[in-house]
Amino acid sequence: MKKVGLAMLGLGTIGSGVFKVLKENGDIIRAREGMDIEIKKILVRDKNKKRNVDVDKSILTDDPSEIINDEGIDIIAEFMGGENPAFTLIRDALRKGKSVVTANKEVIAKYWDELEEEAEKSGAGLYFEASVAGGIPIIKPLRRSLQANNIVKIMGIINGTTNYILTRMSEEGKSFEEALLEAQRLGYAEPDPTADIEGYDARYKLSILSTLCFRNRVTIDKIHCEGITRISPDDIRYAKELGYGIKLLAIAKKHDGKIEARVHPTFIPLSHPLTAVRDSYNAIFIQGDMVGDLMFYGRGAGDLPTASAIVSDIITAAQNGGTHHSVRLDEDKTVFEDNWKNEYYMRLVVLDKPGVLAEIAGIFGRHNVSLDSVMQKLRGNDNATIIFITHTACEKWIHDALDEIRRSPSVISVESMIRVER
Ligand SMILES: NC(=O)c1ccc[n+]([C@@H]2O[C@H](COP(=O)([O-])OP(=O)(O)OC[C@H]3O[C@@H](n4cnc5c(N)ncnc54)[C@H](OP(=O)(O)O)[C@@H]3O)[C@@H](O)[C@H]2O)c1
Repeated sequence: MKKVGLAMLGLGTIGSGVFKVLKENGDIIRAREGMDIEIKKILVRDKNKKRNVDVDKSILTDDPSEIINDEGIDIIAEFMGGENPAFTLIRDALRKGKSVVTANKEVIAKYWDELEEEAEKSGAGLYFEASVAGGIPIIKPLRRSLQANNIVKIMGIINGTTNYILTRMSEEGKSFEEALLEAQRLGYAEPDPTADIEGYDARYKLSILSTLCFRNRVTIDKIHCEGITRISPDDIRYAKELGYGIKLLAIAKKHDGKIEARVHPTFIPLSHPLTAVRDSYNAIFIQGDMVGDLMFYGRGAGDLPTASAIVSDIITAAQNGGTHHSVRLDEDKTVFEDNWKNEYYMRLVVLDKPGVLAEIAGIFGRHNVSLDSVMQKLRGNDNATIIFITHTACEKWIHDALDEIRRSPSVISVESMIRVER
């Protein structure tokens, strides 16, 4: 039986989950994997805090050096969250030759190169399955099962909080604010929900996923990011009328030597499998040139699902015994595309008078944007709502057309512009 000395950085939601998995399924791991994982130390902020797992208080510490310098610790698993001190501790652990398992998407998205370099030097392993989509195995399949493919597209729902909010808005007609309050009450959204609702959380995860898929470093500054705060019940209702659902999608594509990567609310047809992903579930759709379409679905967060991914990484780290397998990036210098092509949904409020529709159609035409469908809804007070779905157009044409439309005296407001994926 191989003895594995583990230290955990954090004993919050995820740390407690890892503790439970190792306790409840320790026998299975011992029998199947031939290893005995012993938690030797746990770093916390407050040693006296009441814990929801039955932990021996003598292994709790608030001094990271007790862990980093302990020769009996082979693997360090980090789930304290945030950028620092998590990054410094991960780096120091790798320098000491200890393999690191982390659930920290922010640290991986921001410091991947630096951490890989440290791991290369010391030979320690760096594992981060739980940093994207919680319990769904996606990093290992991308690294170990799809090497024979040129991956051309990723499209995913990788933030459970926003998916929960959009599901409540779509199924119960709630406003964004009402759905957010409910998500906070149920613990699906943080008291400060900014990182989720503005799309930043999904952007970190897309940075990691697209780097792995395209073998090119896709840093967060290369990813266009829009959240869901401006989605209104009107947009959700009109989307349904037109045969679409609205999801916060993380999308990355590689074509003609260019990469485009973006996080934004998106219309997707009601028949698309991603539309059926409800509540806080996650799903990632991947297209490889050889394998075709793949879809990964499951719990993108939560203590036990995330701990399932972390413990799997701990087992792999122990099996690899301090051998670092770096992610090799392609040599080519990739160009990032920000003028991508899409179809677009737009909702405008205009003066209800003759000639306005023709005027707006004319503006779109002047900017090369052709229209697929137009719906007019009367709103009263001499105003009308007009909804447009375009044919495929360049992002820049749409922005130029909307700038001109906003300047027209006949237009009261451009209420929304949402990209459409088929
Ligand atoms: N929650 C999820 O469903 C989920 C899913 C996937 C990935 N993740 C990632 O997992 C990580 C942890 O999330 P979580 O929800 O478990 O967080 P959490 O409940 O807030 O737990 C954080 C833990 O880290 C400890 N900690 C924080 N800062 C510390 C410091 N400076 N020094 C010592 N200990 C410190 C805290 O100690 P005290 O207990 O003493 O305060 C606590 O035990 C994050 O990176 C998150 O993005 C979470």
